[in-house]
Amino acid sequence: MTSTPAELRVNAARLAARIDALAEVGAIDGTRGCARLALSDEDRAGRDLVVAWMRDLGLAVSIDGIGNVVGTLAGATNEPPVMTGSHIDTVRTGGRYDGNLGVLAGLEIIEVLNEANLTPQRPIAVAFFTNEEGARYSPDMLGSLVYVGGMGVEQAHAIAGIDDTTVGTELARIGYLGTAPLPAAAPHAFVELHVEQGPVLEAEQQTIGAVTGVQGISWTEVTVVGQSNHAGTTPMGLRRDPGLVAFRTGAFIRDLAEEIGAPQVATMGRIELHPNLVNVVPAQATFTIDLRHTNDEVLRDAEQRTLAFLEATAEREQCSVTTRTLARFEPVIFDDDVISLVERTADTLGHSVRRMPSGAGHDAQMLARVCPTGMVFVPSVNGISHNPTEHTDDADLEAGANVLMQVLLELAGGTTEAPR
Ligand code: GLV
Ligand code: MN
Ligand code: MN
Repeated sequence: MTSTPAELRVNAARLAARIDALAEVGAIDGTRGCARLALSDEDRAGRDLVVAWMRDLGLAVSIDGIGNVVGTLAGATNEPPVMTGSHIDTVRTGGRYDGNLGVLAGLEIIEVLNEANLTPQRPIAVAFFTNEEGARYSPDMLGSLVYVGGMGVEQAHAIAGIDDTTVGTELARIGYLGTAPLPAAAPHAFVELHVEQGPVLEAEQQTIGAVTGVQGISWTEVTVVGQSNHAGTTPMGLRRDPGLVAFRTGAFIRDLAEEIGAPQVATMGRIELHPNLVNVVPAQATFTIDLRHTNDEVLRDAEQRTLAFLEATAEREQCSVTTRTLARFEPVIFDDDVISLVERTADTLGHSVRRMPSGAGHDAQMLARVCPTGMVFVPSVNGISHNPTEHTDDADLEAGANVLMQVLLELAGGTTEAPR
């Protein structure tokens, strides 16, 4: 007999213990944060820990050619699995919840099913995808992009990082160059639990976000070359200063975002001057521009205006400018049935819930290309993320994991006590 056991609940202490244990790997001294850049030694150690947990839980573990790891709990049928998961790589100044929560909540749900001796009708798979953050290799969401066939694996292997390594060599070095087929077979559905990483749920005192989609993302790397010279002897009118082009562009995108208004955001998150010395007019400036908006037309317009400003500013300063697209993803709208299911489930479990778009990029936006997809958000204290102080209260972690569990069970067609 199949049923969807509405009374099942996650073990919040066990979930918190796994989050804390994973956060020990690559821990940033004196903080609660983590530094596990994709495919680094720390990422490898984090992967090894999570894979060991997957095996302990009896999951069949597969690793593909871009290092995505999928642990699958067999179902009563061999139909395509319901999948959950996220990522365990972090930015260099990461918190302990971004990504990790979604993976470890998936494992917690498997453990609850194991304890109750329940078998889902469809298999349930828990995945962690490679290089979601994009902090070391661009684009972000690389593993899930390749998983769904949005980029070939050879092309992905050739991507060079901020440290001149490549994805392929680092995958092999850390032992996560697997053989599971790519692109992978589409799951039946994908649902990802994640911290909001913004201020909305907390400000509105809501516990659950039923995520409607993800805004478009545009990342560009800009290199400006001028004339390096002596800071004391070069008259202002004779300078060809690539630093100035960078600073004016940084100010321009801030003003542009404010002029366009929310949800337009614009960030210059990385900037390097060469030779970066107090008394030398720089020879070269390299910087990144991150623009995001839920409407692709508005985003395209922001991109064009930024490029026009950059080129005009470089020309005035007699500098040359080259640009390179690091990532460009259109806005994504999630599946209406999954959004409604998340909303209904939160409500049934007694949690306040609102629909909301995601400001951050997520693996779910790639899975949405191949199967019905949605996300569950829980609040981030002070809306802080990509920062070691990132925090979500235990009660909210528990609420999110319970919503995720009921949503997965519903999508899996319920459970049976049949032996596995
Ligand atoms: C991924 O974390 C992003 O930058 O949105
Ligand atoms: Mn994330
Ligand atoms: Mn992140």
